[in-house]
Amino acid sequence: MNLDTRSDNILEVRGISKHFGKVQALDEVSLAFRRGEIHTLLGENGAGKTTLMNIIYGLYHRDSGQILVEGEPKEIRDPRDALHAGIGMVPQFFKLVQDMSVVENVGLFLRENRFLVRKKELAEKVRSLSDLFGFGLEDRLNVEIADLSEGEKQKVEILKVLALGSRIILFDEATNVLAPNELDSFERVIKEMNREGYTIVFITHRLQEALEVSDRISVFRKGKLVGTLDAKEADYNRLTMMMVGTEFAHRFATIYEGKKETVLSVSALSALDDRGLPALQKVSFELYAGEIAGVAAIEGNGSSQLAEVLMGLRPATEGGIRYRGRDITGLPCHARMRQGINYIPSANTLVPLFSIRKNSILDYPEKTPFSRRGILNWREVSDHAEKIVRTYNVQTPGIYLPAVKLSGGNRQRLALGRKIEACPRLMIAYHPTKGLDINSQEFFYSKLAEMTLSGATILFMGTDLDELYKICNRLFVLYRGELVRVFDDLAGVSKLDVGVLMTGGVTYAKKASDG
Ligand SMILES: Nc1ncnc2c1ncn2[C@@H]1O[C@H](COP(=O)(O)OP(=O)(O)O)[C@@H](O)[C@H]1O
Ligand SMILES: [Mg+2]
Repeated sequence: MNLDTRSDNILEVRGISKHFGKVQALDEVSLAFRRGEIHTLLGENGAGKTTLMNIIYGLYHRDSGQILVEGEPKEIRDPRDALHAGIGMVPQFFKLVQDMSVVENVGLFLRENRFLVRKKELAEKVRSLSDLFGFGLEDRLNVEIADLSEGEKQKVEILKVLALGSRIILFDEATNVLAPNELDSFERVIKEMNREGYTIVFITHRLQEALEVSDRISVFRKGKLVGTLDAKEADYNRLTMMMVGTEFAHRFATIYEGKKETVLSVSALSALDDRGLPALQKVSFELYAGEIAGVAAIEGNGSSQLAEVLMGLRPATEGGIRYRGRDITGLPCHARMRQGINYIPSANTLVPLFSIRKNSILDYPEKTPFSRRGILNWREVSDHAEKIVRTYNVQTPGIYLPAVKLSGGNRQRLALGRKIEACPRLMIAYHPTKGLDINSQEFFYSKLAEMTLSGATILFMGTDLDELYKICNRLFVLYRGELVRVFDDLAGVSKLDVGVLMTGGVTYAKKASDG
């Protein structure tokens, strides 16, 4: 290597691989970061961005590969090594002590990492950094963290790594926690830091942000680096194609031809997320008997809230839901289940300490098929559990094993089997195949198809377009809580088109033409 590249690339990774169980989170990733650039890592959820950041910051250990700082190989075993090499991370989830002040948090961080500064100098240092970057915290240095907004807390996280002298700052999904009105300020801060010569690595799954802040953009897809573009040569279509793949889908599973009997009718439905911010905004659609309708959305755009509102697990702030002609907007979850609506959340739904047998009947609020006058017939429950174990290939020594003892894949097959065997008439499936091996996925799809043959309706929420194209009759696209498009037929619709919508392409185009 010559000296020129040495001074150009402040940080470089070579051939980094990392797996978690069967998941190859990173596959031979090589990438160089230039001194003083804003370099965005862009990719759908699960693409491997956070894993790469965590390896560079010493939180995860790589399986193979090398990290070079200033052209020299560096052994980074933990965050302290990273910090001493000039690399700081602003984490997605803040690590601040709530009842300590801004200055105290910075001081604590420095001490933890064995950087010694005197108390008086510390306050001065924090104040001048805040001033330099226009954080506006200069007069609030003694305010407790608990009294700060999310945007201010993030600035404290930035102050921590700046005070420690980091020159390379990693931001993982930094904009997720911010309210819309804090975004501009965040962008200014990043650009200001960049002007001061810092190297910024900015992670996001949002295309528009990547285009707005970056000098260069590297796109990740399924653990691989697809490519790096200069922001000048990047545009929506090119980036989307890199994010979601180029193939055009010619296949459309089973074109839905039955006459349309409306099962669910959702009108102008709105809801808030856990932070009280709008998550769903006036979403309206209908679901028909016997169809699999897909919701294509990147995480954080309202699909999980939609699933919860439909199940009665989150209140609607506006709008209504009618199921088979009846208004169910105010019904609690168990009442909806009694009417044949069920839910596969991405988190496991088993009770860990219950046996497989006991877990197998959790979807029957009244246990009707298994009890006579309130007395449970364990013989029948056992038969039911045995059937699930057999049909869904749950590998276990027996049905009395507590669910917690099963391996991940087996637990998920049990959870899915339990839901499907409960024969819901309407199934809301939220990322149901996440983490499932290919064979089990295929089997699960065939089971869903079977359900629809008997008239059941499935609302399938996912991020993987290959999967959605394979199984869905129709496709809805959610972006920032709004239903931006309904495709009644996917034939002739490219994944690229859908991908652009999922990442806000249309909104962007509209904005640009609005001037
Ligand atoms: N600590 C972990 N344990 C198991 N699997 C993980 C872990 N961290 C990440 N993964 C898996 O690695 C893949 C990449 O994840 P991640 O790096 O978080 O992606 P991104 O940040 O691009 O959304 C995903 O399939 C994820 O489930
Ligand atoms: Mg991530």
